[in-house]
Amino acid sequence: MAKLKLYEYPHPILKKKAEPVEKVDDELRKLLDDMLETMYASNGCGLAAPQIGVSKRIVVIDIAREDEEPNPLYLVNPEIIWRSEETEISEEGCLSVPGQRAEVERPASVKIRYLDYHGKQQEMLVEDFLAVATQHELDHLDGILYIDRISRLKRQMLLKKLEKFRKEHQE
Ligand code: NI
Repeated sequence: MAKLKLYEYPHPILKKKAEPVEKVDDELRKLLDDMLETMYASNGCGLAAPQIGVSKRIVVIDIAREDEEPNPLYLVNPEIIWRSEETEISEEGCLSVPGQRAEVERPASVKIRYLDYHGKQQEMLVEDFLAVATQHELDHLDGILYIDRISRLKRQMLLKKLEKFRKEHQE
């Protein structure tokens, strides 16, 4: 496995709608493995292919805590087939917007359809934090960042803080 380079805001690939995967083969599984390793190495709980510079509709998620066994979820060509009317506000962060967090409102639970690591079609109802992570990552596949889902004023403030964070963390 290999750790991949992370693409950060405002790289244009993060704005692009990603292309569907045609086949779940060994090459794709290698990419999924590398994405998972990259996500773990960066202490993230989700990663979408555009964030590693690949415009394909694939996502990895693992919301297990550090003291729990890893529980990776691989989503290929995922789509949301149902959204709850009930919404929930939670704090989100993103490896492509380092050091920042903001509150985002989303449906509290969603049902997704996707191909798994072996190319088998699955459906799953996701709730709680997994629903947040899933919707956040699926947004990446459509070129949407969580900062696109907050008010313009909050976004401007966050982007200023991002600029400051980057200056402080320059190598
Ligand atoms: Ni993200």
